[in-house]
Amino acid sequence: MSILINPSLLAADFAHLERDIRQLEDAGAEILHLDIMDGHFVPNLSFGIPVVEAIRRTTHLPLDVHLMLSEPEKYLEPFRKAGADYLSVHIEVAPDPRKLFGKIRQLGAVPGIVSNPPTPVEAVLPFVNDCGLVLTMGVMPGFGGQSFDTRALGKIRAVKEIAKPDVLISVDGGVGEQTIGACAAAGANVLVTGTALLGKPDVKKQFAYLTELAVRTPFV
Ligand code: DX5
Ligand code: ZN
Repeated sequence: MSILINPSLLAADFAHLERDIRQLEDAGAEILHLDIMDGHFVPNLSFGIPVVEAIRRTTHLPLDVHLMLSEPEKYLEPFRKAGADYLSVHIEVAPDPRKLFGKIRQLGAVPGIVSNPPTPVEAVLPFVNDCGLVLTMGVMPGFGGQSFDTRALGKIRAVKEIAKPDVLISVDGGVGEQTIGACAAAGANVLVTGTALLGKPDVKKQFAYLTELAVRTPFV
């Protein structure tokens, strides 16, 4: 099973986004994670459709768009048109996400489901094999640089236990040198990293280091 580091551009330098994306491509990134916040579902704003379009024009890497929005259904089409390849919605605002998954697939993207640390994994388990990506939050979403909530590990294990092999198992928030091994050991294969990667002076070296930490801790 291959393990991917999925860089979160929230930790990029937005005045030099293209430079940071090139650094990530050069480091070996195979996917990019884009955090969309509405100031309502989460207590923060990030960036929106024009920035996703600009990123799309800049790179061929698949774009994994994490919608931290109270009303994701309104924005699926605009974000897909902007270039999203994966569109993930939170279970907290879509308790039965199957309709949204259908819409996302119809638009030609891969649907994902996300859960916050206090949300029991049982809320997402019924939908794991209806989507292409299951994202477990390691922090309450809204801000980069927070510390990892270990409740995520048991949730990842539970998802891994029932997920078909082609479902990506992702984790987001607080994933770094201290926690990436445990996430991979629990079964995560798409590891979102913001601060622990883009906050470092040598991104290429850090990308290799985080990859090594993740792959040398085999799934148990
Ligand atoms: C949290 C976002 C994350 C965030 C991760 O609201 O969903 O993607 O950028 O940042 P780090 O890796 O710094 O915890
Ligand atoms: Zn995210």
